[in-house]
Amino acid sequence: MTEMLQVLLRELEEFGANNDAAITERPRRMLNITRDTGEFLSVLVRATNARRVLEIGTSNGYSTLWLTQAALAVGGHVTTVELSELKLQMAAKNFEQSGLSQAITQVHGEAGKYLQAASDSSYDLIFLDSERSEYPAWLSNLKRILREGGLLVVDNANSHAGEMAPFVELVSADGHFTCCTVPVGNGEFLATLGTNCPLSC
Ligand SMILES: C[S@@+](CC[C@H](N)C(=O)[O-])C[C@H]1O[C@@H](n2cnc3c(N)ncnc32)[C@H](O)[C@@H]1O
Repeated sequence: MTEMLQVLLRELEEFGANNDAAITERPRRMLNITRDTGEFLSVLVRATNARRVLEIGTSNGYSTLWLTQAALAVGGHVTTVELSELKLQMAAKNFEQSGLSQAITQVHGEAGKYLQAASDSSYDLIFLDSERSEYPAWLSNLKRILREGGLLVVDNANSHAGEMAPFVELVSADGHFTCCTVPVGNGEFLATLGTNCPLSC
């Protein structure tokens, strides 16, 4: 990672912490992932060679930058979806400043509609960090647009375990995913879509 990107990420961490400590109104809070979650996402993207990455919930683009520097390292690209015009504009400025904007497609819109319109098997890795109550309704499209062997990563598995429970239960019961939760940052729920073991194990 370049020194310039390291500096920008540190600035965004400071901005997010100060902003969110001062503001209670949820739409104006940045609600960024933790730094160790960014590092974890970076490893996941590189290790799985994820070239087609989708993020749901851009905010001001902190997590997108972690995903993108990793996607670029494997020749990939990140598409990130955000409902809020204010946050979309903030993210656009940060992407410009990062020098990574050529590897990012910003989508302004409601994630459920985006997922519905996306093509089958069109993503290698999907990072979900948005409105948790919507996740169960999004599952069928998340599953459809994730390629076989692809990885779904969901933030806040531990910090908001109660809100995440219906989604985690649905995915775990689906039979087509192998799942786990890891205690990184706010807790990351991982689910990889895959075929069964040929030995029926
Ligand atoms: C937790 S924040 C994302 C933080 C970001 N991933 C980061 O770590 O920098 C959640 C974002 O999801 C957006 N959001 C909420 N519901 C949405 C929806 N239905 N479609 C698209 N974006 C949505 C919010 O506006 C908010 O910016």
